[in-house]
Amino acid sequence: MPNKPMTLETTRRFLEDLLLPAGAEALPIHLIASADDAALQALSEAERAWVEAQDWSGKQGSVLLLPGKEEGLGGVLLGTGSKDWPAQVPLLTGALPSALPAGDYRLASPLADPELATLGFLAGSYRFTRYKSADGGKTTRLVLPDGASKEQVLALAGALYVGRDLINTPANDLGPAELETAVRELATAFDASIKVTEGSGLLSDNFPMIHAVGRASDRAPRLIDLRWGAEHAPKVTIVGKGICFDTGGLDIKPGSAMALMKKDMGGAAAALAFLLLVMRAKLPVRLRVLIPAAENSIAGNAFRPGDVLTSRNGMTVEIGNTDAEGRLVLADAISLADEEAPDYLFTIATLTGAARVALGPDLPPLYTDDEELAERLLASGRTVGDPLWRMPFWPPYDKLLKSSIADVNHIAEGSFAGSIIAALFLKRFVRNAKRFAHLDIFGWVPREQPGRPQGGEPQAARALFDFFRRELGTS
Ligand code: BES
Ligand code: MN
Ligand code: ZN
Repeated sequence: MPNKPMTLETTRRFLEDLLLPAGAEALPIHLIASADDAALQALSEAERAWVEAQDWSGKQGSVLLLPGKEEGLGGVLLGTGSKDWPAQVPLLTGALPSALPAGDYRLASPLADPELATLGFLAGSYRFTRYKSADGGKTTRLVLPDGASKEQVLALAGALYVGRDLINTPANDLGPAELETAVRELATAFDASIKVTEGSGLLSDNFPMIHAVGRASDRAPRLIDLRWGAEHAPKVTIVGKGICFDTGGLDIKPGSAMALMKKDMGGAAAALAFLLLVMRAKLPVRLRVLIPAAENSIAGNAFRPGDVLTSRNGMTVEIGNTDAEGRLVLADAISLADEEAPDYLFTIATLTGAARVALGPDLPPLYTDDEELAERLLASGRTVGDPLWRMPFWPPYDKLLKSSIADVNHIAEGSFAGSIIAALFLKRFVRNAKRFAHLDIFGWVPREQPGRPQGGEPQAARALFDFFRRELGTS
């Protein structure tokens, strides 16, 4: 039956069915760095002749099927391109599911990181089937390798799937209300508490900028506020941008730039993927996830360029361009988060096109003034194959946010340093949080890569999870 969202339960079952217990009968997959890799010596003479006849060189991500002794398949070679592949392409095994015929397989080579190798395979098995009348998919299963925890890889892959599904779901089926429903599903499953401030309630409860950005849509904007964990544990707050569709508002986007804007809730999806990981692992934190959810639409009551908004903390903000809506909704949510002086405050948002100009789609900029925090976050991102790259809260650019009639402008003139400017605007709303970091993600894989099918990607969720696992000494 098409057009039904996956539930936590169906996602979990789908993933569980992809893993086989140790010892199950399965075809071997050999990881091969090059045509003269010593590992090829382990193959039979006939197999080696086959590899040579195909002129197969072990190019990174290439897959070669080996004939069986009598009939069918005998095994598989996966080219790693280099002995150092885990550092280069951590999810390389994700190239396997789409290249292999349906069947059962096992990784027969030594693995530097069995958990990541398994996650790659599961990540590469993802399909977004909600709108397909027939699934049309095949099932390639993998024997759980030694040294990988089944619970852990299922949790990691599950969070990835949930985040991808949310981003991939088009805006007609994922507005602010449906995003709220998705958060409620998570809250119910893990006994988290949730509070939602909606529509005109945003005005009475003092979230004026979330209201201004979302009011032109007939789908009411809202602030979703979820809390989980022990009240006295370290306070971690994640604010995720939940713009369910970004037309640009009155400063409308051209069609080519608008085409992908269902993904403008990618920050919210990443925050929820992180939340799911934290709750499943029962990390000892008091986690709060704030999602300002709204549609940036066009109507007679839309906010305008030149308007001056008063934000939650009283700062007045001159609107330079209604397409810079993300930082406005985030600012009100940051103010709320900041009121309880959390130990950690993170923002995750598909905030600027400029971040892509600077670093491309795969490498989200990380902003923080805390050197140690930066180092540890970058290290976590590298380790788990969810990379981040540091960019500066460059103080001299802060003056570019000057407004002649309000306390601050939310954009600068011209388009230089757009990602930094947006980050500096957010930082102005942080006063009490002990540590603050901002991630400007793309939330999307434009072209398929191993373990990263084309489509939504909740970037930074696994990096953050690994960071907190280490930070709290539970890894
Ligand atoms: N959601 C966009 C940013 C975006 C665009 C992220 C494309 C990823 C891919 C954001 O709301 C936006 O429109 N930002 C403007 C800001 C500008 C008007 C100062 C941008 O980046 O062009
Ligand atoms: Mn925009
Ligand atoms: Zn946006």
